[in-house]
Amino acid sequence: MTLRVIHGGRGSADLMPGLLVTGASEVVTMAGGIRAGADQDDPGVFRAADVGGVDAPDAPVVACWEGRVVAVGPREGVVAALAADGLPASRFARLDADGGTVTPGLVDPHTHLLFAGTREGELRLRQRGAGYLEILAAGGGILSTVAATRAATEDELLAHGRRWLDEMLAHGVTTVEVKSGYGLDPATELRLLHVAGLLAEEGPVEVVPTYLGAHAVPPEFRSQPDATDAYVRSIVHDQLPLVAAQGIARFCDVFCEEGVFSADQSRTVLEAARAVGLDLRLHADEIAPSGGAELAAELGVVSADHLAAPSEAGIDALAEAARGGRPVVATLLPATTWFLMTHHYAPARRLIERGVPVALASDFNPGTSPTPNLALVLTVACLELGLTPSEALAGVTVNAAHALGLGDEVGSLEPDRQADLVIWRVPTHLQIPYFPGANLVRSVVKRGQIVLERA
Ligand code: NIG
Ligand code: FE
Repeated sequence: MTLRVIHGGRGSADLMPGLLVTGASEVVTMAGGIRAGADQDDPGVFRAADVGGVDAPDAPVVACWEGRVVAVGPREGVVAALAADGLPASRFARLDADGGTVTPGLVDPHTHLLFAGTREGELRLRQRGAGYLEILAAGGGILSTVAATRAATEDELLAHGRRWLDEMLAHGVTTVEVKSGYGLDPATELRLLHVAGLLAEEGPVEVVPTYLGAHAVPPEFRSQPDATDAYVRSIVHDQLPLVAAQGIARFCDVFCEEGVFSADQSRTVLEAARAVGLDLRLHADEIAPSGGAELAAELGVVSADHLAAPSEAGIDALAEAARGGRPVVATLLPATTWFLMTHHYAPARRLIERGVPVALASDFNPGTSPTPNLALVLTVACLELGLTPSEALAGVTVNAAHALGLGDEVGSLEPDRQADLVIWRVPTHLQIPYFPGANLVRSVVKRGQIVLERA
């Protein structure tokens, strides 16, 4: 199977103002806002089979104009309404879905895209029983990636970022959150965020940058008796002001975990980040209950991520925030649990039952989840978290967009959203997680331009 980036990609100009996607068996809209509770299972689908097939006059289409969705619905009605608005059908290029499924472009709301080196040796260590935090405490894990990343040039990081963004795009991802966190010193953290910014400018995948200076305590602080507190002070005084002054991060994140940054230390970093204008997100309770979920609710962060081991009080706090109309999105990373072989998955069903909106992400990183394939994450979410395919798809579209504060821009196919969509080579979205590891992507559209087609 060949893969062609055909236009709208790096360095190419926009071609046509209008795009009409026809011939879909299903158009999954995810319209209507963030999904929580029973609504997480409602994908908002138009089915061609309900109206006489893909060639019928009422078969569903998606109309895009100048990079935005302008209409979704029955073909003849949409075409007539557009013509009445001065947008005749002749001004729209056609894209035939050929009986496939159309969904919003996927949003990956948690990745550590930028790093140097690989850590395949840790897989063997973990197979022999070593714990993830044990490897980190011994100076491996994140810290070995920090050493390699500090030694990498901007060009090397850029080439690495392009390579893996291309892989993500090939799997239907059109928006990606990208964290720093493998520098842990001002110069390297800024270099990573600068590279994220260059990738954002290049496109076509949209990049949302997050500053994660509080990912681990770097080696040069580790000999001090109060190493973690000293590094937290350095983050607040030496790193955050530079990150804020350069305006190169949207979010601040912290790895809140027993033995890494405590809830109090995480609060210190996050409050300082908020004071300099950054939005907040949190690695919460990935391995053990560490007060992360409680802190996420207390601070009203946009997204609490991992949650493989939240306390009961933490789940209650997230449920209470959702009930109060200030939901913290629970961004779950089941491919990480799978790859770490801990078999201790996030309580996804309980979170949904308690009304907490659930998103899913790859966590792409060299230690715990080296997969760029978000569709595979859907499969793991269905098999191990017990999500339905529709709930899982909401987790990587509309809810993932909300996990990035971008719910009004991406993640759903409805008027005024960015025209980001994927055509899948299957007749229903229920089959996207059903073929684990297959690449079912046929075409990807970003801001109304076809950016990828697989022949
Ligand atoms: O989300 N847990 C912290 N950060 C990553 C892993 C980073 C690494 O091991 O390099 C995660 O799992
Ligand atoms: Fe992570």
